[in-house]
Amino acid sequence: MDHSHEMAAAIAGTAMGMGAGKIAAASRTLSDSLSDGSPGRDGAGLPRTAYGGLGAADRHAAAVAYAVARMPATFAAARLALAETLRALGRLPEPRPAGVARILSGGFAALDAGAGTGASAWACEAAVGDVLGPIGGGPRPSYVCLERSAHMAAVGSAILGGGTPALRAAEWVGADFAAGPLGHRGDLVVASYVLNEVPRRLRARAALSLWEAASGALVLVEPGTPAGYGVLMEARAALLGVGARMAAPCPNGGACPIDAAAGGWCRFTRRVARGRLHLLAKAGEAPYEDERFAFVSFYRDGGTAGWDAGRAAPGGTTVAARVIRHPKVGKGCVWLKVCAADGIGEACVRRRDGEAYAAAKKCGSGDLIALPAQSISKWSRPSLPSM
Ligand SMILES: C[S@@+](CC[C@H](N)C(=O)[O-])C[C@H]1O[C@@H](n2cnc3c(N)ncnc32)[C@H](O)[C@@H]1O
Repeated sequence: MDHSHEMAAAIAGTAMGMGAGKIAAASRTLSDSLSDGSPGRDGAGLPRTAYGGLGAADRHAAAVAYAVARMPATFAAARLALAETLRALGRLPEPRPAGVARILSGGFAALDAGAGTGASAWACEAAVGDVLGPIGGGPRPSYVCLERSAHMAAVGSAILGGGTPALRAAEWVGADFAAGPLGHRGDLVVASYVLNEVPRRLRARAALSLWEAASGALVLVEPGTPAGYGVLMEARAALLGVGARMAAPCPNGGACPIDAAAGGWCRFTRRVARGRLHLLAKAGEAPYEDERFAFVSFYRDGGTAGWDAGRAAPGGTTVAARVIRHPKVGKGCVWLKVCAADGIGEACVRRRDGEAYAAAKKCGSGDLIALPAQSISKWSRPSLPSM
């Protein structure tokens, strides 16, 4: 199952009955607050969530407009983040920590915090199919969607009603996860495009609450902007400080080697096809859009592994590296800018590097690739020691 088509159909079904003009108007109201991940303040000086600035009568329309205009893209971003996390967990050596083993069995409890209209729950179902195998036969995840807006939850629950049996059975809980312990746990907790809506002074605490609720892994996704990256780096520092271990996308389990002070940040891109309703909501003409996002994920090692999931085995001649810019293909050589355990590096992968050269020719920004250590010529090392 592709999932994106089924989800588009479920969104269209939920939007049916709401006039096209109303969807377009509601999505225009949302667009400013949704586009850059910096929602601003409402009249009461409170952080304005994507919906906080709207009147109650329009909130249902806004929730539907969110699903039409944003859910396909946030789904695509979360799907990649979750798939990369599952792959990273799968690279951990045996014996795997209990929560990680449950996730990899496919029969795990997933908690989507700040679920909105359920994009990440649906993305989790898709990523499990992408990485662990097709639905049917083996154990499947169960879902809890935690969302404080009753309007978003109502629309989300209607949309998930068009999904797999596991999505249809999702439990929706009305709660504020930034207010303290979540009251629910999951083997896998995911929070997509939501930490930036938590007031800054509560954010690190909210990230820790999400982590405390995760018995296996936590995935955080934010807009692919310096602000979104900053939110993730803040959460990353707080979580590494309490013993969380990096799962993805970073091969570096310590301090991020990217120099944010010099304007650096890291992001991923997913191209998303736009359906008719989506075009209408965005008042756009291009049949697709590029969703730029950043993510980080962590796992709980339970005192067993102590090994960063992105790394190649220590002492090897191969370096596990994340490609962080578009590769440049030259004559007999592919130039890559990569992030790896030793910092940011520049690699020239040559024809004589065989499999690595073939992989480098096919890779894109955001891919994880195994490179011969000698192909990386320049390192800029992290300023703090790696864990
Ligand atoms: C931009 S939407 C993202 C929804 C969804 N996760 C996605 O990726 O499409 C943010 C959602 O988080 C919810 N939210 C924000 N802060 C929250 C909190 N502290 N507790 C629960 N839900 C929250 C908002 O109501 C909104 O539905």
